[in-house]
Amino acid sequence: MQGLTRRFGAVAAVDDVWLDVADGEFLVLLGPSGCGKSTLLRMIAGLLEPSGGRVLLDEEDITHVPPQRRDLAMVFQGYALYPHLSVARNIGFPLRARGRPKVEIRAEVAKVAEMLGLTGLLDRKPRELSGGQRQRVALGRALVREPGAFLMDEPLSNLDATLRATTRAEIVALHRSLAATVVYVTHDQVEAMTMATRIVLLNEGRVEQAGSPAEVYDAPASVFVARFLGSPPMNLVDTVLNGDGVARGDDLELPLGLGEGVPERPVTLGFRPEHLTIVPNERAGLRGVVIAVENLGGEEIAHCEVGAARICVRGPRPLGLVAGERVGLSARPEHLHLFDPDSGRRLAWRPAAVTTNA
Ligand SMILES: Nc1ncnc2c1ncn2[C@@H]1O[C@H](COP(=O)(O)OP(=O)(O)OP(=O)(O)O)[C@@H](O)[C@H]1O
Ligand SMILES: [Mg+2]
Repeated sequence: MQGLTRRFGAVAAVDDVWLDVADGEFLVLLGPSGCGKSTLLRMIAGLLEPSGGRVLLDEEDITHVPPQRRDLAMVFQGYALYPHLSVARNIGFPLRARGRPKVEIRAEVAKVAEMLGLTGLLDRKPRELSGGQRQRVALGRALVREPGAFLMDEPLSNLDATLRATTRAEIVALHRSLAATVVYVTHDQVEAMTMATRIVLLNEGRVEQAGSPAEVYDAPASVFVARFLGSPPMNLVDTVLNGDGVARGDDLELPLGLGEGVPERPVTLGFRPEHLTIVPNERAGLRGVVIAVENLGGEEIAHCEVGAARICVRGPRPLGLVAGERVGLSARPEHLHLFDPDSGRRLAWRPAAVTTNA
């Protein structure tokens, strides 16, 4: 994709996106509702005309090639099943459209149905299925085609938690075994982290960051990314980075291990809930009060007030904290992130200096 743009009236739903999708990649387009994920995917599929930019496939410009000639299989956000056709005929539709022999179609449909747990439902009509079953039929219809690439728009959004986890694992296994190229849209960070070989985070039609799941989680390029990933997300506190290399705020004093001679400046300091440890008050970089403790089963999340900021701590249960009591917390320098408070962009910091990461 080169400078791909789509406007609806004055609004750019997708705004100057440059992306290369490598062969065999599992690329996840991630972002909040309305950020342009479906619009971008529909332009890749050829279902929506771009306002600007180009789509290339193996260096060939396919921007104006009709969808049926792109060798791409799409699974839509809705189900888009043929209501008057049985499950078997819905799944087999792409093969019939290509004039493949009946015996072959039946065998292919049976194979895919088996994989997706639809074998007993092949004679039903879409209206006789649950939402999750319909979604699997839509997935099955894409799978029988063995296309050059799969485009999937929130294909698991209507499944219950158990079915979502198993189908997620199935899609990942399928991607491995077929060595297929997949472009997958979701707003679910867990799907993105577990399925992607690369995540592209979109914000208001623009690429906020692209990288492996570990890269975007461990080194978020902006406050937006830091807030979007993690459960609960990264704690962010407005502080001042002083000349002695220590970040200071209300009830907060965290050395960054920078040494002396750092230019003094305001910074947004970020640290993840799982990177905080509970320590005696005299050794604490953060001093606060516990507001509430949530029990997640294996883990607990404590919500604390440090100065005017809300801070979350996450760790194995029990954390040993009680609502209302005072708490001391600390974080190691390598787990601290710095952002520019104005632009929200990540600041690269090394022991010598703090610079803007262009
Ligand atoms: N046909 C259209 N006409 C006008 N505006 C549109 C149209 N399609 C999308 N938009 C707008 O473009 C923006 C991006 O929409 P898009 O459907 O790509 O978002 P999305 O990231 O897929 O969101 P969701 O997660 O809710 O599906 C939104 O602000 C939306 O209102
Ligand atoms: Mg969408």
